Amino acid sequence: MKAIILVGGEGTRLRPLTYSVVKPMVPVANRPFIEHVIRKLALHGIDDIVLAMGYRPDSIYAYFKDHRDLDVKLTYSLEEKPLGTAGAVKNAGRHIKESVFVLNGDCFSDIDYSEMYRQHKHNQARATIALTEVDDPTRFGVVETDEGGRVLRFIEKPGWEDVTSHWINAGVYVLDPEVLEYIPDDQFYMFENGVFPSMLEKGEPFYAYRSHAYWIDMGTPEQYHRINSDLLLGNCSSPLHVARDIIIGEGCEIHPSAHLTGPVMLAGECRVGAEASIKGPAVLGRGCRIAGGAVIENSLLWDDITVAEGAIIINSIVASGAKIDKRQRLEGQTINHRAPTAK
Ligand code: GDD
Ligand code: MG
Repeated sequence: MKAIILVGGEGTRLRPLTYSVVKPMVPVANRPFIEHVIRKLALHGIDDIVLAMGYRPDSIYAYFKDHRDLDVKLTYSLEEKPLGTAGAVKNAGRHIKESVFVLNGDCFSDIDYSEMYRQHKHNQARATIALTEVDDPTRFGVVETDEGGRVLRFIEKPGWEDVTSHWINAGVYVLDPEVLEYIPDDQFYMFENGVFPSMLEKGEPFYAYRSHAYWIDMGTPEQYHRINSDLLLGNCSSPLHVARDIIIGEGCEIHPSAHLTGPVMLAGECRVGAEASIKGPAVLGRGCRIAGGAVIENSLLWDDITVAEGAIIINSIVASGAKIDKRQRLEGQTINHRAPTAK
Protein backbone atom coordinates (compact mmCIF):
# COMPACT_ATOMS: atom_id res chain seq x y z
CA MET A 1 0.00 0.00 0.00
CA LYS A 2 1.06 3.56 -0.68
CA ALA A 3 1.75 6.45 1.70
CA ILE A 4 2.61 10.04 0.98
CA ILE A 5 4.59 11.73 3.76
CA LEU A 6 4.57 15.51 3.89
CA VAL A 7 8.07 16.68 4.64
CA GLY A 8 8.02 20.22 3.25
CA GLY A 9 8.07 23.35 5.36
CA GLU A 10 11.10 25.07 6.82
CA GLY A 11 10.88 23.79 10.37
CA THR A 12 11.20 27.30 11.79
CA ARG A 13 9.74 26.29 15.15
CA LEU A 14 12.50 23.71 15.53
CA ARG A 15 15.22 26.36 15.30
CA PRO A 16 18.06 26.59 16.09
CA LEU A 17 18.36 22.85 15.31
CA THR A 18 17.12 23.25 11.74
CA TYR A 19 20.04 25.57 10.95
CA SER A 20 22.07 22.35 10.71
CA VAL A 21 19.66 19.78 9.29
CA VAL A 22 16.19 19.79 7.76
CA LYS A 23 13.40 18.79 10.12
CA PRO A 24 12.88 15.22 8.81
CA MET A 25 16.60 14.49 9.32
CA VAL A 26 17.04 15.54 12.95
CA PRO A 27 18.47 12.56 14.85
CA VAL A 28 16.18 10.57 17.10
CA ALA A 29 18.06 7.88 19.01
CA ASN A 30 20.89 8.54 16.52
CA ARG A 31 18.87 7.89 13.34
CA PRO A 32 16.99 10.44 11.20
CA PHE A 33 13.51 11.05 12.52
CA ILE A 34 11.89 10.23 9.18
CA GLU A 35 13.59 6.83 9.05
CA HIS A 36 11.69 5.79 12.20
CA VAL A 37 8.44 6.88 10.53
CA ILE A 38 9.18 5.02 7.28
CA ARG A 39 10.21 1.78 9.00
CA LYS A 40 7.11 1.87 11.12
CA LEU A 41 4.87 2.16 8.06
CA ALA A 42 6.70 -0.80 6.54
CA LEU A 43 5.74 -2.94 9.55
CA HIS A 44 2.12 -2.46 8.48
CA GLY A 45 2.81 -3.43 4.88
CA ILE A 46 2.84 0.20 3.72
CA ASP A 47 5.87 -0.17 1.55
CA ASP A 48 5.43 2.24 -1.35
CA ILE A 49 6.37 5.58 0.12
CA VAL A 50 6.53 8.99 -1.47
CA LEU A 51 8.26 11.84 0.32
CA ALA A 52 6.55 15.08 -0.70
CA MET A 53 9.30 17.63 -0.34
CA GLY A 54 9.44 21.34 -0.77
CA TYR A 55 12.61 22.33 0.98
CA ARG A 56 16.33 21.42 0.76
CA PRO A 57 15.90 17.78 -0.30
CA ASP A 58 19.63 16.99 -0.85
CA SER A 59 20.48 15.56 2.56
CA ILE A 60 17.40 13.31 2.44
CA TYR A 61 18.36 11.92 -0.98
CA ALA A 62 21.94 11.41 0.12
CA TYR A 63 21.02 9.53 3.28
CA PHE A 64 18.55 7.10 1.74
CA LYS A 65 20.73 6.45 -1.30
CA ASP A 66 23.09 4.72 1.14
CA HIS A 67 20.38 2.89 3.06
CA ARG A 68 19.14 0.32 0.66
CA ASP A 69 18.20 -2.08 3.44
CA LEU A 70 14.86 -0.28 3.77
CA ASP A 71 12.26 -2.79 2.64
CA VAL A 72 10.23 -0.11 0.91
CA LYS A 73 10.05 1.56 -2.45
CA LEU A 74 10.99 5.15 -1.71
CA THR A 75 10.32 7.92 -4.21
CA TYR A 76 10.48 11.69 -4.03
CA SER A 77 8.06 14.33 -5.18
CA LEU A 78 9.47 17.85 -5.41
CA GLU A 79 7.63 21.16 -5.30
CA GLU A 80 9.10 24.18 -7.03
CA LYS A 81 7.26 26.33 -4.56
CA PRO A 82 5.46 25.20 -1.38
CA LEU A 83 2.06 23.83 -2.35
CA GLY A 84 0.60 23.40 1.13
CA THR A 85 -0.40 20.08 2.66
CA ALA A 86 -3.08 19.22 0.06
CA GLY A 87 -1.32 20.79 -2.93
CA ALA A 88 1.72 18.66 -2.12
CA VAL A 89 -0.40 15.49 -2.10
CA LYS A 90 -1.99 16.38 -5.44
CA ASN A 91 1.49 16.99 -6.86
CA ALA A 92 2.74 13.65 -5.51
CA GLY A 93 -0.30 11.51 -6.17
CA ARG A 94 -1.87 12.46 -9.48
CA HIS A 95 -2.03 8.84 -10.62
CA ILE A 96 -3.39 7.26 -7.47
CA LYS A 97 -6.03 4.61 -8.13
CA GLU A 98 -6.45 3.18 -4.62
CA SER A 99 -6.75 4.38 -1.03
CA VAL A 100 -3.58 6.00 0.19
CA PHE A 101 -2.17 7.00 3.58
CA VAL A 102 -1.12 10.63 3.98
CA LEU A 103 1.04 11.60 6.95
CA ASN A 104 2.31 14.83 8.38
CA GLY A 105 6.03 14.15 8.34
CA ASP A 106 6.70 15.61 11.78
CA CYS A 107 4.33 13.36 13.73
CA PHE A 108 5.43 10.15 15.38
CA SER A 109 2.98 7.68 16.84
CA ASP A 110 2.13 4.14 17.73
CA ILE A 111 -1.16 4.47 15.83
CA ASP A 112 -2.25 1.11 14.44
CA TYR A 113 -2.31 1.89 10.70
CA SER A 114 -3.65 -1.57 9.83
CA GLU A 115 -6.61 -1.17 12.15
CA MET A 116 -7.24 2.36 10.87
CA TYR A 117 -7.31 1.08 7.30
CA ARG A 118 -9.70 -1.75 8.24
CA GLN A 119 -12.03 0.78 9.83
CA HIS A 120 -11.83 3.02 6.75
CA LYS A 121 -12.99 0.12 4.57
CA HIS A 122 -15.62 -1.07 7.06
CA ASN A 123 -17.17 2.43 7.16
CA GLN A 124 -16.99 2.71 3.37
CA ALA A 125 -15.43 6.09 4.04
CA ARG A 126 -14.08 8.52 1.48
CA ALA A 127 -11.61 9.81 4.06
CA THR A 128 -10.59 8.72 7.54
CA ILE A 129 -8.61 10.93 9.89
CA ALA A 130 -6.76 9.69 12.97
CA LEU A 131 -7.50 11.63 16.15
CA THR A 132 -5.45 11.86 19.32
CA GLU A 133 -6.32 13.52 22.62
CA VAL A 134 -4.10 16.37 23.84
CA ASP A 135 -4.06 18.83 26.76
CA ASP A 136 -3.61 21.91 24.57
CA PRO A 137 -5.66 21.67 21.36
CA THR A 138 -5.00 25.30 20.40
CA ARG A 139 -1.76 24.32 18.63
CA PHE A 140 -3.55 21.77 16.45
CA GLY A 141 -6.69 21.11 14.42
CA VAL A 142 -9.68 20.22 16.60
CA VAL A 143 -12.05 17.66 15.08
CA GLU A 144 -15.69 17.26 16.18
CA THR A 145 -17.52 14.02 15.45
CA ASP A 146 -20.94 12.50 16.06
CA GLU A 147 -21.40 9.37 18.16
CA GLY A 148 -20.88 7.11 15.17
CA GLY A 149 -17.47 8.68 14.49
CA ARG A 150 -18.49 10.80 11.49
CA VAL A 151 -16.60 14.04 11.29
CA LEU A 152 -18.83 17.09 11.78
CA ARG A 153 -16.47 20.02 12.04
CA PHE A 154 -12.82 20.90 11.72
CA ILE A 155 -11.37 23.90 13.58
CA GLU A 156 -7.72 24.59 12.79
CA LYS A 157 -5.73 26.24 15.62
CA PRO A 158 -8.77 27.37 17.61
CA GLY A 159 -8.61 29.99 20.34
CA TRP A 160 -9.44 28.54 23.78
CA GLU A 161 -12.95 29.99 23.47
CA ASP A 162 -13.51 27.74 20.41
CA VAL A 163 -12.13 24.55 21.94
CA THR A 164 -15.05 22.15 21.90
CA SER A 165 -13.00 18.95 22.14
CA HIS A 166 -9.48 17.84 23.07
CA TRP A 167 -9.44 15.34 20.21
CA ILE A 168 -7.25 16.73 17.45
CA ASN A 169 -6.07 15.85 13.97
CA ALA A 170 -3.11 13.50 14.46
CA GLY A 171 -1.85 14.19 10.93
CA VAL A 172 -2.62 10.69 9.59
CA TYR A 173 -5.26 10.26 6.90
CA VAL A 174 -6.54 7.45 4.70
CA LEU A 175 -7.88 9.03 1.52
CA ASP A 176 -9.69 7.54 -1.45
CA PRO A 177 -8.53 8.78 -4.87
CA GLU A 178 -11.72 10.85 -5.28
CA VAL A 179 -10.49 13.20 -2.56
CA LEU A 180 -7.85 14.49 -4.98
CA GLU A 181 -10.68 16.06 -6.99
CA TYR A 182 -11.07 18.59 -4.18
CA ILE A 183 -7.51 19.82 -4.70
CA PRO A 184 -6.66 22.27 -7.48
CA ASP A 185 -3.55 21.53 -9.59
CA ASP A 186 -0.31 23.43 -8.97
CA GLN A 187 -1.76 25.71 -6.33
CA PHE A 188 -1.13 26.27 -2.67
CA TYR A 189 -3.96 24.41 -0.94
CA MET A 190 -4.45 22.95 2.53
CA PHE A 191 -6.42 19.96 3.81
CA GLU A 192 -7.08 21.63 7.11
CA ASN A 193 -9.00 24.69 5.95
CA GLY A 194 -9.66 23.77 2.31
CA VAL A 195 -10.26 20.12 1.43
CA PHE A 196 -11.78 18.92 4.71
CA PRO A 197 -14.37 21.72 5.13
CA SER A 198 -15.40 21.29 1.45
CA MET A 199 -15.83 17.53 1.91
CA LEU A 200 -18.00 18.13 4.97
CA GLU A 201 -20.14 20.64 3.09
CA LYS A 202 -20.72 18.03 0.38
CA GLY A 203 -21.71 15.42 2.99
CA GLU A 204 -18.94 12.99 2.00
CA PRO A 205 -18.48 9.93 4.26
CA PHE A 206 -15.65 11.36 6.36
CA TYR A 207 -14.81 9.37 9.51
CA ALA A 208 -12.53 9.71 12.50
CA TYR A 209 -10.32 6.97 13.90
CA ARG A 210 -9.73 7.70 17.59
CA SER A 211 -6.47 6.42 18.98
CA HIS A 212 -5.13 6.36 22.54
CA ALA A 213 -1.72 5.25 21.28
CA TYR A 214 1.42 7.30 21.86
CA TRP A 215 1.51 10.40 19.64
CA ILE A 216 3.75 13.43 19.33
CA ASP A 217 4.36 16.31 16.92
CA MET A 218 8.12 16.80 17.23
CA GLY A 219 8.15 20.26 15.66
CA THR A 220 9.62 22.18 18.64
CA PRO A 221 12.87 21.59 20.58
CA GLU A 222 10.87 20.61 23.67
CA GLN A 223 8.81 18.01 21.81
CA TYR A 224 11.88 16.81 19.93
CA HIS A 225 13.65 16.25 23.25
CA ARG A 226 10.63 14.38 24.55
CA ILE A 227 10.42 11.88 21.71
CA ASN A 228 14.05 10.90 22.25
CA SER A 229 13.49 10.37 25.97
CA ASP A 230 10.26 8.49 25.37
CA LEU A 231 11.95 6.09 22.94
CA LEU A 232 14.79 5.41 25.37
CA LEU A 233 12.36 4.91 28.24
CA GLY A 234 10.18 2.59 26.16
CA ASN A 235 7.12 4.87 26.25
CA CYS A 236 6.85 4.50 22.48
CA SER A 237 8.28 2.07 19.99
CA SER A 238 10.32 2.09 16.81
CA PRO A 239 11.67 -0.77 14.70
CA LEU A 240 15.01 1.07 14.96
CA HIS A 241 15.27 1.18 18.71
CA VAL A 242 14.83 -1.34 21.46
CA ALA A 243 14.62 0.38 24.83
CA ARG A 244 17.58 -0.93 26.80
CA ASP A 245 19.51 0.35 29.75
CA ILE A 246 22.82 1.24 28.18
CA ILE A 247 23.78 1.01 24.51
CA ILE A 248 27.40 1.64 23.61
CA GLY A 249 28.43 1.88 19.97
CA GLU A 250 31.51 0.42 18.36
CA GLY A 251 34.87 1.95 19.11
CA CYS A 252 33.77 3.81 22.26
CA GLU A 253 36.27 4.23 25.09
CA ILE A 254 34.66 4.59 28.48
CA HIS A 255 36.98 5.18 31.46
CA PRO A 256 36.36 2.58 34.17
CA SER A 257 35.65 5.30 36.73
CA ALA A 258 32.97 7.02 34.58
CA HIS A 259 29.36 6.59 35.77
CA LEU A 260 26.68 5.74 33.23
CA THR A 261 23.10 5.54 34.48
CA GLY A 262 20.60 4.33 31.88
CA PRO A 263 18.85 4.75 29.65
CA VAL A 264 21.91 6.01 27.83
CA MET A 265 22.79 5.57 24.18
CA LEU A 266 26.23 6.29 22.74
CA ALA A 267 26.92 6.11 19.00
CA GLY A 268 30.31 4.89 17.79
CA GLU A 269 33.74 6.33 18.59
CA CYS A 270 32.75 8.26 21.73
CA ARG A 271 35.25 8.85 24.54
CA VAL A 272 34.18 9.32 28.14
CA GLY A 273 36.84 10.38 30.65
CA ALA A 274 37.55 9.61 34.31
CA GLU A 275 34.79 10.35 36.81
CA ALA A 276 32.53 11.76 34.06
CA SER A 277 28.86 11.11 34.66
CA ILE A 278 26.15 10.46 32.07
CA LYS A 279 22.65 10.09 33.43
CA GLY A 280 19.78 9.03 31.19
CA PRO A 281 17.72 9.50 29.30
CA ALA A 282 20.65 10.74 27.25
CA VAL A 283 21.83 10.25 23.67
CA LEU A 284 25.33 10.99 22.43
CA GLY A 285 26.06 11.01 18.70
CA ARG A 286 29.14 9.72 16.94
CA GLY A 287 32.57 10.89 18.02
CA CYS A 288 31.63 12.82 21.17
CA ARG A 289 34.50 13.48 23.59
CA ILE A 290 33.47 13.90 27.20
CA ALA A 291 36.35 14.96 29.42
CA GLY A 292 36.95 13.92 33.01
CA GLY A 293 34.49 15.09 35.62
CA ALA A 294 31.93 16.38 33.11
CA VAL A 295 28.26 15.78 33.88
CA ILE A 296 25.59 15.08 31.26
CA GLU A 297 22.04 14.54 32.36
CA ASN A 298 18.77 14.16 30.43
CA SER A 299 20.34 15.67 27.32
CA LEU A 300 20.85 15.08 23.62
CA LEU A 301 24.29 15.60 22.12
CA TRP A 302 24.58 15.27 18.36
CA ASP A 303 27.76 14.17 16.56
CA ASP A 304 31.27 15.33 17.29
CA ILE A 305 30.70 17.34 20.48
CA THR A 306 33.61 18.16 22.76
CA VAL A 307 32.78 18.64 26.41
CA ALA A 308 35.70 19.94 28.46
CA GLU A 309 36.56 19.01 32.05
CA GLY A 310 33.96 19.70 34.66
CA ALA A 311 31.33 21.06 32.25
CA ILE A 312 27.72 20.37 33.17
CA ILE A 313 24.94 19.78 30.62
CA ILE A 314 21.45 19.23 31.99
CA ASN A 315 18.09 19.03 30.14
CA SER A 316 19.71 20.41 26.99
CA ILE A 317 20.17 19.75 23.28
CA VAL A 318 23.52 20.42 21.60
CA ALA A 319 23.75 20.32 17.79
CA SER A 320 26.76 18.80 16.01
CA GLY A 321 30.29 20.11 16.28
CA ALA A 322 29.94 22.22 19.43
CA LYS A 323 32.68 22.72 22.00
CA ILE A 324 31.57 23.13 25.57
CA ASP A 325 34.21 24.89 27.68
CA LYS A 326 35.74 23.86 30.98
CA ARG A 327 33.21 24.14 33.77
CA GLN A 328 30.63 25.71 31.43
CA ARG A 329 27.08 25.00 32.58
CA LEU A 330 24.14 24.48 30.22
CA GLU A 331 20.73 23.92 31.68
CA GLY A 332 17.49 23.76 29.69
CA GLN A 333 19.20 25.10 26.57
CA THR A 334 19.16 24.24 22.88
CA ILE A 335 22.37 25.34 21.24
CA ASN A 336 23.70 25.24 17.71
CA HIS A 337 26.93 26.97 16.85
CA ARG A 338 25.75 27.18 13.24
CA ALA A 339 22.85 29.45 14.14
CA PRO A 340 23.30 32.97 12.77
CA THR A 341 24.42 35.25 15.58
CA ALA A 342 22.56 38.50 16.24
CA LYS A 343 24.81 41.49 15.55
N1 GDD B 1 5.49 18.96 0.93
C1 GDD B 1 5.00 19.90 1.71
N2 GDD B 1 4.68 21.12 1.16
N3 GDD B 1 4.82 19.65 3.03
C2 GDD B 1 4.32 20.63 3.80
C3 GDD B 1 3.98 21.91 3.31
C4 GDD B 1 4.18 22.15 1.90
O1 GDD B 1 3.92 23.24 1.36
N4 GDD B 1 3.51 22.66 4.35
C5 GDD B 1 3.57 21.87 5.44
N5 GDD B 1 4.07 20.66 5.12
C6 GDD B 1 4.28 19.53 6.03
C7 GDD B 1 5.16 19.87 7.23
O2 GDD B 1 6.51 19.54 6.99
C8 GDD B 1 4.62 18.96 8.30
O3 GDD B 1 5.21 17.66 8.24
C9 GDD B 1 3.13 18.80 7.92
O4 GDD B 1 3.02 19.20 6.56
C10 GDD B 1 2.21 19.67 8.79
O5 GDD B 1 2.67 21.00 8.77
P1 GDD B 1 2.99 21.80 10.13
O6 GDD B 1 3.45 23.17 9.71
O7 GDD B 1 3.85 21.03 11.04
O8 GDD B 1 1.52 21.95 10.70
P2 GDD B 1 1.04 22.00 12.21
O9 GDD B 1 1.81 21.06 13.06
O10 GDD B 1 1.01 23.42 12.63
O11 GDD B 1 -0.50 21.49 12.07
C11 GDD B 1 -0.81 20.32 11.36
O12 GDD B 1 -0.47 19.16 12.11
C12 GDD B 1 -1.20 18.99 13.34
C13 GDD B 1 -0.72 17.70 13.99
O13 GDD B 1 0.61 17.84 14.32
C14 GDD B 1 -2.32 20.32 11.04
O14 GDD B 1 -2.56 19.26 10.15
C15 GDD B 1 -3.16 20.17 12.30
O15 GDD B 1 -4.54 20.03 11.96
C16 GDD B 1 -2.72 18.92 13.08
O16 GDD B 1 -3.44 18.83 14.31
MG1 MG C 1 3.60 20.05 12.88
